Amino acid sequence: MKHIRNFCIIAHIDHGKSTLADRLLDFTGSVTEREKQDQLLDNMDLERERGITIKSHAIQMEYNYKGEQYVLNLIDTPGHVDFSYEVSRSIAACEGALLVVDAAQSIQAQTISNLYLALENDLEIIPVLNKVDLPSANPEEVTDDIVDLLGCDPSDVIPASAKTGIGIGEILEAIIERIPAPKGNPDESLQALIFDSVYNPFRGVETYFRVINGKITKGQKIKFLATGKSYYADEVGTLKLSQVKKQEIKTGDVGYLITGIKDAREVKVGDTITDAENPTANMIEGFENVKPMVFAGIYPVDTEDYEELRGAMEKLQLNDASLVFAPESSAALGFGFRCGFLGMLHLEIIQERLEREFDMTVITTVPNVSYHAYTKKEPDERIIVNNPSDLPEPSKLDRVEEPYIKASIITKADFVGPVMSLCIEKRGEITNQNYLTPERVELNFDLPLAEIVFDFYDRLKTVSRGYASFDYTPIGMRESKLVKVDVLINGNSVDALSALIHTDNAYNIGKKMCEKLKELIPRQQFDIPIQAAIGAKIISRETIKALRKDVTAKCYGGDISRKRKLLEKQKKGKKRMRQVGNVEIPQQAFMAVLKLN
Ligand code: GTP
Repeated sequence: MKHIRNFCIIAHIDHGKSTLADRLLDFTGSVTEREKQDQLLDNMDLERERGITIKSHAIQMEYNYKGEQYVLNLIDTPGHVDFSYEVSRSIAACEGALLVVDAAQSIQAQTISNLYLALENDLEIIPVLNKVDLPSANPEEVTDDIVDLLGCDPSDVIPASAKTGIGIGEILEAIIERIPAPKGNPDESLQALIFDSVYNPFRGVETYFRVINGKITKGQKIKFLATGKSYYADEVGTLKLSQVKKQEIKTGDVGYLITGIKDAREVKVGDTITDAENPTANMIEGFENVKPMVFAGIYPVDTEDYEELRGAMEKLQLNDASLVFAPESSAALGFGFRCGFLGMLHLEIIQERLEREFDMTVITTVPNVSYHAYTKKEPDERIIVNNPSDLPEPSKLDRVEEPYIKASIITKADFVGPVMSLCIEKRGEITNQNYLTPERVELNFDLPLAEIVFDFYDRLKTVSRGYASFDYTPIGMRESKLVKVDVLINGNSVDALSALIHTDNAYNIGKKMCEKLKELIPRQQFDIPIQAAIGAKIISRETIKALRKDVTAKCYGGDISRKRKLLEKQKKGKKRMRQVGNVEIPQQAFMAVLKLN
């Protein structure tokens, strides 16, 4: 045990976490030349294309230091806010963290939020000043920023370049010298923390764990405390670049477990593994059931594909436990599913996977957050509203609550004004303003989640010319004055376009929605009125003028192959269109409410 070190790397996005991990693997000889490729740990296609670590993984290195052999377990953490719960569990499996700070960008919002998570878990922090090779690096100033943040000595900060290899030896030395060896009692009953799981179509769910006390042995009957289910440990092992089977994994070490579980939902990140016959009384603290934050309807483009879509969703759920869905029907779109996601990125990933892996073209409706509604008749009975059309009638409604978050934004002093205006426009309330240095400010706002999940981040980047970073944590529900704004197209209310909007913005947004839909819905043979309404009251109206000519008219009687080509082209264009009444609505229109600026 005294030769084991468990650590993670925490950093703001793009500060070089994955590159540094690759360099550590290189330096310790954990990778052969053949296995070398950039960003080794990001092994999902999608991850590599998007250049982000979606799922956290672990990897074991061996390193000889002063004549002794050490085992270093690096636990990788995802970098996106959608996956912050996974970050917190990975951190809980470690004794230390490398805090990577870009020498040109200095401390950013996620540097701080991840640092707090690490400090809450009593991790030893090793500050790494990365990218010192960059001409734009500002090592002295950024070192001062780090020293201010951590209250450490300037000599604790390790200057490094994950690109050129500067400082890598010093980092490994610090991991061994500064991070404590794991504690824990090998003679106690098994207690292991699940910090991640991955679905493998051939082997079922692979569970990644860290043993806190006791040991886990091949063939042992084990039990997951949160779900209460028991399994046999068919295979256990350590995680090198590939998995290495072992007879047992001991106290302090990190490994994988295969039990033949086929459904990802049975393995919950944060759960405790124990011995089924002699269970521990103590669940490892911090377990949470992950809750979806964003909901949207997913409908097949072709109504006939409903069953096929259900099959695809069920398969996706087997390997993505955070995806939830339930059947729903929409007057406009027919049968589909209301799905819950961790955030907008997660939604995009699911939509993309449906297309790539299952060849399903789907229509996604306006995403919304989860509201609580109470009726006058039963003012204590909470109704969970995951779809605006489930909101009770205005006359029966007592009150509505919406989820709020605490946002942390770090920006340059010059941009404090524009950032504040943006947050106020988004119904935010400033709670704190803290100058980290004379040029850099941390701002805290309480904001409605609904205002930030969609385009907030892009707007923030624009108003701050890229010099702002952002992170958030949920702070619960608050009462809000919300109304349901409906959209009527050609006189028919299109339920999939309804949205809950704050009373003060309802007129403005209703108007903009009509204008946007006018742009997005193609002209047809007849005039199409587009209206926004609150209850029976129309608040805005636009008209899409009729087309004068039939598109194929000029081909009639002409060259048949030309006509076929034209029809085929139309069919392709139709791919993401839905017929609602007698009007065709393209996919972008369903998302229009998100892009009104
Ligand atoms: P996520 O995984 O998306 O959170 O990002 P990350 O923090 O892992 O960053 P990543 O390792 O992908 O690096 C981001 C960019 O910085 C890449 O283009 C790297 O090549 C570059 N980079 C990383 N380290 C260094 C360094 O030491 N010097 C220079 N010049 N570039 C670096």
